Amino acid sequence: MQDHFHKKADTWDEGAIRVDGAKKIADAISAKITLTKEMEIMDFGVGTGLLGFEIAKLTKKVYGVDTSANMLEKLREKNSTDITIETYCQDIIKTPIERTFDGLVSSMTLHHVEDLQAFFQTIYKNINKNGFIAIADLETEDGTFHSDNAGVFHFGFDEDNLCEIVKNAGFEDVRFENINTINKPKKDFGIFLLTATKR
Ligand SMILES: C[S@@+](CC[C@H](N)C(=O)[O-])C[C@H]1O[C@@H](n2cnc3c(N)ncnc32)[C@H](O)[C@@H]1O
Repeated sequence: MQDHFHKKADTWDEGAIRVDGAKKIADAISAKITLTKEMEIMDFGVGTGLLGFEIAKLTKKVYGVDTSANMLEKLREKNSTDITIETYCQDIIKTPIERTFDGLVSSMTLHHVEDLQAFFQTIYKNINKNGFIAIADLETEDGTFHSDNAGVFHFGFDEDNLCEIVKNAGFEDVRFENINTINKPKKDFGIFLLTATKR
């Protein structure tokens, strides 16, 4: 898989919109889901850990999955004796992780996943009974959010279509709600949080 984030890793954390956006996603997740110090969580598309470290403060451990070695290298520079995210550098659809988690969080990565059915079927197997998923990404957009759409497979997501895919994978209590708006000079872009449970 081509790494479109190879060159972006060095300056990723300098983007104020990204840092602020990840914090808003973390706040929305912790407002909707009771995170506890017993929970082990996967952050899918963890990147440099902007969301993952926020979630790690509230849980037992976060495991970060990403296909970009450089993004994960930047993340590991931020690991400390207090909080450490363990990383997996792999495409989990092709090379699944053979263990389960109490929940999965994800920020701004789903639009980089080509086969959504395969993705949700894969992560269903990674979630414990009564575990949750909490995935944030762009609502339907016109393709102008990114200046370069290389590696972007979806111009945001339509609520009904996405919820149907998630339900078909076996998840229940599927909810989709707007949690943020990213203001860019020419347009505003809605950010949703999708939550669901594995019963
Ligand atoms: C827009 S960045 C978001 C990073 C981080 N979640 C954040 O909010 O700052 C998307 C991340 O997803 C990763 N990614 C893209 N496709 C992926 C895939 N199929 N599996 C795992 N990670 C992927 C990229 O390498 C990148 O680090």
